Amino acid sequence: MSNIKIAVGSDHGGLEYKEKILEFLKNKGYETIDEGTYSKESCDYPEFARKVANLVAEKKADRGILICGSGIGMSIAANKVKGIRAALCSETTSARLSREHNNSNILCLGQRLIGETMAFEIVETWLNTEFAGGRHQHRIDIIE
Ligand code: RB5
Repeated sequence: MSNIKIAVGSDHGGLEYKEKILEFLKNKGYETIDEGTYSKESCDYPEFARKVANLVAEKKADRGILICGSGIGMSIAANKVKGIRAALCSETTSARLSREHNNSNILCLGQRLIGETMAFEIVETWLNTEFAGGRHQHRIDIIE
């Protein structure tokens, strides 16, 4: 059981994983916010990236997860919001390092590029890894 709140969003290309990840998070006891999309109809990923990124930047959510076809558009768009450190991950080592070294606050996934098992392992790794701080904080301060 965790008390952190996670905002989740996708476009049509990430809808299936969004639904599955939301269910997975709820089953683990996380509080979630579903920012859409809610149908398979074609839509624009930057809209959903902005909604989730704003929630995280404004501290209305602790972290965010964004899914599109490749994860690339979501990561580009989310990183435009000040205070967001969105990491596009396709394996668990990157997910771990994005937390330990970069204190990533948004995870981006590409539904069309990674299998479901890997997606869930990435999510679990990313949620369960803490920021290491120290010299890494100084580098994040430089970005800010
Ligand atoms: C939608 O076709 C696709 O372009 C989008 O999901 C994403 O992959 C963009 O980066």
